Amino acid sequence: MSSLFLKRSLIFVTGSSRGFGKEIVQQFAKKFSESSCFVLISRSSEALKESCDTLKESFLLHEFTSYACDLSKTADVSALCENISKDFSGKLSQYKSALLVQNAGTLGQIEKSAVDLDDIGALQEYMCTNISSYILLNSAFLKLLKPVDYAELDRWIINISSICATVPMASQTEYASIKAAREMALRVLQIENPKVRTLSYSPGPLETDMSDELRSKWTQKEATKSWNYLTCEQSVNKLVVILEENKFEGACRIDYFDRN
Ligand SMILES: NC(=O)c1ccc[n+]([C@@H]2O[C@H](COP(=O)([O-])OP(=O)(O)OC[C@H]3O[C@@H](n4cnc5c(N)ncnc54)[C@H](OP(=O)(O)O)[C@@H]3O)[C@@H](O)[C@H]2O)c1
Repeated sequence: MSSLFLKRSLIFVTGSSRGFGKEIVQQFAKKFSESSCFVLISRSSEALKESCDTLKESFLLHEFTSYACDLSKTADVSALCENISKDFSGKLSQYKSALLVQNAGTLGQIEKSAVDLDDIGALQEYMCTNISSYILLNSAFLKLLKPVDYAELDRWIINISSICATVPMASQTEYASIKAAREMALRVLQIENPKVRTLSYSPGPLETDMSDELRSKWTQKEATKSWNYLTCEQSVNKLVVILEENKFEGACRIDYFDRN
């Protein structure tokens, strides 16, 4: 498989209105072959439109489009999957590669310990945002591409993970459980679809709205004072190198701080 970035590609990025996802689109747009198409997904239609407009000015040869979708709402997620299928199934022959970056994520009830997680509605909403929609989007992506031969179109799925998928920390029942579940779901998907390139990337502690929320709400907020925060650009650059080298084992997890 030659470098992902040399191919005209169709790239979906969830959670791309701000933070790490927005930076992924920005940095990938610099790298990907001209006439690639970027599909930005998050709740805020205004932020998405603003991002697309700015990106179109900087990258004249790419296409940028967006879908506003609240991943916590099952009806929204179903509509997103249907719309993606309707809008892109007739255009796949234009691309040599398709990439889904599952980046959207929320922290959940980090102000509570496990003993206080007693609101089933909040738990269900969290699961829908962070794991059910993730599984549904993986499915929609693979179904969309199914009619096209692998020789004509590469498939890539990148799960944005976290150190919390492997290291337990207090008051992270929801966040840590779904990050671990997402990695395992990807490993299962990889066994079932050996020709798809998949990776769980743990980006390190980032300066974003999510880290602000952690610093203000988390029961263990003191711990965050000693963390060495990265810029989103630093971490996306590392992801770009990993994808460019393309030496990783399918569905493995790579952390920003891993050597090699
Ligand atoms: N920040 C860190 O230190 C850190 C460390 C390790 C891993 N990560 C992971 O990196 C990823 C990105 O994190 P970040 O720091 O960039 O977070 P962030 O700044 O809070 O941004 C989260 C993104 O997800 C979208 N989003 C949130 N809820 C959504 C919903 N219900 N439906 C659709 N989109 C939704 C947001 O857009 P809208 O508000 O417009 O919907 C936004 O674009 C996450 O998976 C996170 O777990 C972050």
